[in-house]
Amino acid sequence: MDNKVIIFDTTLRDGEQALNASLSVHEKLQIAQAIERLGVDIMEVGFPVSSPGDFESVQQIAKTVKNSRVCALARAVEADIKACADALKPAEAFRIHTFISTSDVHVQQKLRKEFSDIEAMAVHAVKYARRFTDDVEFSCEDAGRTPIDNLCRMVEQAIKAGATTVNIPDTVGYTVPTEFGGIITQLFNRVPNIDQAVISVHCHNDLGLAVANSIAAVQAGVRQIECTINGIGERAGNCSLEEVAMILKTRESLLGLHTGIQHQEIARTSKLVSHLCNMPVQLNKAIVGGNAFSHSSGIHQDGMLKASNTYEIMTPESVGISKTKLNLTSRSGRHVIKHRMASLGYQDSDYDLEQLYADFLALADKKGQVFDDDLEALLFNIQQQEMQ
Ligand code: KIV
Ligand code: ZN
Repeated sequence: MDNKVIIFDTTLRDGEQALNASLSVHEKLQIAQAIERLGVDIMEVGFPVSSPGDFESVQQIAKTVKNSRVCALARAVEADIKACADALKPAEAFRIHTFISTSDVHVQQKLRKEFSDIEAMAVHAVKYARRFTDDVEFSCEDAGRTPIDNLCRMVEQAIKAGATTVNIPDTVGYTVPTEFGGIITQLFNRVPNIDQAVISVHCHNDLGLAVANSIAAVQAGVRQIECTINGIGERAGNCSLEEVAMILKTRESLLGLHTGIQHQEIARTSKLVSHLCNMPVQLNKAIVGGNAFSHSSGIHQDGMLKASNTYEIMTPESVGISKTKLNLTSRSGRHVIKHRMASLGYQDSDYDLEQLYADFLALADKKGQVFDDDLEALLFNIQQQEMQ
């Protein structure tokens, strides 16, 4: 089995649909180009039948993006699929992604149909989409809550109808990793034609498990992960791209898998998406949070000054951040103060460390974080007192 995990980014479709204000065509293009630079294999950029604006942005992105395959979403109905094909036409090659719900609750309550009707619609949709492209993805919406026999049947039928990728979404973020990995294992064991398609997952984060479930799925044999920058998306969001990319890179020797992501592009892409989508990234978010590479405890800071791998499992430079930040707080020790003073250009002989450290602690107790300017102000103050 191939060890490459295909990264399918859906920031501009599943991510964008959850924003309070839609992005303009120009903003979507900016994000699409950043995602292309990031090295994603496939980007899903909209739902063209939903509005003329969405259609236009899909069309513009299909004209512009060359290094990632562009994809758009369609329900399992001809009008949606035709809108995808029309919007994506400017691209040299494109993917149509069509979906229908397969769980009992969705089939009976939302669609008010029999499962056999759903199967027929799915098969027809995949065959119809294949008239426009040989790259067709089919998703079983709410697969995480679908009875396994029905899920196996649907996956088999979709592949037989011509789907080249079959996606297993945990639409409502309900499953836990062992369970989700088990669903994937059962599919691989029971669906006879499963090796004729790429199997993909698309996990939502309602229980904070989207990334863990996606990793369990690749360990069970899946080779495409659907995700978004900063994990933006419906409700608690989608699987976060930067987290899966860095898990697969940092733990490559354990997992034996890799992606084509240019990880040095991660920080700037995250900032662009956060800024244009008006969605701040929480400070303690893995990989891209403001504190992800900053250290506050004196013991940790001392360790970091001796060797960075004492408290960092990846370097900030590897995700495009210039350097580790040691926060100066009342937990910081003399070692970090000395180091910071040196980085500000001061020699040991320029100041009395004990005096500076005592003043620093007094300020840190009042203020929390002490910045470089504060530290220099303390030094100037001491020097002034000495002159009097
Ligand atoms: O969450 C979901 O099930 C989806 C599908 C359309 C793939 O977004
Ligand atoms: Zn989704």
